[in-house]
Amino acid sequence: MTSYNIALLAGDGTGKEVTDEAVKVLKAISKKYSINFEFEPSLIGGCAYDAYKTPLPDVTLDIAKKSDAVLLGAVGDWKYDSLPPDVRPERALLGIRKELNLFANLRPAIVYPELTQLSPLKEEFVSGTDIMIVRELTGDVYFGTPKGIEIRNGEKFGFNNMCYYESEIRRIAHCAFKVASQRNKKLCSVDKANVLDVSRLFREIVQDVAKEYKNIELSFMYVDNAAMQLIRNPKQFDVILTGNIFGDILSDEASMLSGSLGLLPSASLSDSKNAMYEPIHGSAPDLKGLNIVNPIATILSAAMMLKYSFHMDSAYDDIVNAVRKALKDGYRTKDIQQTGMVTVGTDKMGNVIVDNILRQ
Ligand code: IPM
Ligand code: MG
Repeated sequence: MTSYNIALLAGDGTGKEVTDEAVKVLKAISKKYSINFEFEPSLIGGCAYDAYKTPLPDVTLDIAKKSDAVLLGAVGDWKYDSLPPDVRPERALLGIRKELNLFANLRPAIVYPELTQLSPLKEEFVSGTDIMIVRELTGDVYFGTPKGIEIRNGEKFGFNNMCYYESEIRRIAHCAFKVASQRNKKLCSVDKANVLDVSRLFREIVQDVAKEYKNIELSFMYVDNAAMQLIRNPKQFDVILTGNIFGDILSDEASMLSGSLGLLPSASLSDSKNAMYEPIHGSAPDLKGLNIVNPIATILSAAMMLKYSFHMDSAYDDIVNAVRKALKDGYRTKDIQQTGMVTVGTDKMGNVIVDNILRQ
């Protein structure tokens, strides 16, 4: 029987509650497809700091590197807010992305027909939205040096460096063009080339890579305009390619098209087998233990794992269909509550989705 090792990094806050549901779903898939998943749990984030005085212990990194895929919940809790920056829970996320070379972050923003009314925008503008944001994840101002806070001219001075190597732009551009090839063949590269040199290089390299993908319709947009267009007319986008910081901001914005951060998954890929799957939402420590958070983003992240790491496309479809059926049948967690629907807890939502998978 085929067997895959999955590093299970639940993290902090409600991370465990949502990954528990995704594990249930993966177990249902393993039953249905006679495939074995071995889960290896390890600590990351604040809980790892408590145990090891570092948010990303070597043992976790080893397990992640050796795994066939990582499933991550979320990291962070306000109780770690006063820690020095280099041991804060968020550092672990940046660290694991860098160490596993997860340079390509895919963030789909899909507005499901069952939930169009949830969007804060008018239904006619958002219905049918299906965007894939391809965010570069291991470069840019997130990792650039020099950086720091120091005294200059007698006052404090803070600085970071937004920078990209040509090779880093090239590999993420190839990834975005390939993603676009499998979708509607439209790619919009988002930058700030009217102001930033690093963006001018980004644009130049994307234009160069485009020569190898003649069937893809390529456009460019400044990031401020893209932020506006995402709200004004989201359906104009198919695939958006962008750097780390712009992708961070635009993906949170895009998530609101669907009405809740609790719905959107992500995949972070490398050019080897290393890959990590996580919801784009945070750890919501204030909701921990209440059994109310939405597990759908994490369940859909597990679905992305099946598709991108294990090439199990029909299992991916099974999960998406099971989620959509749960929504169609009126099941809602608190964040997506609607009148006339049944509000259920985190575990019940997971159970309904599992039942739907096994019944299909
Ligand atoms: C995300 C998050 C992270 C990021 C934080 C928690 C470091 O916002 O995955 O989008 O900025 O990349
Ligand atoms: Mg973010």
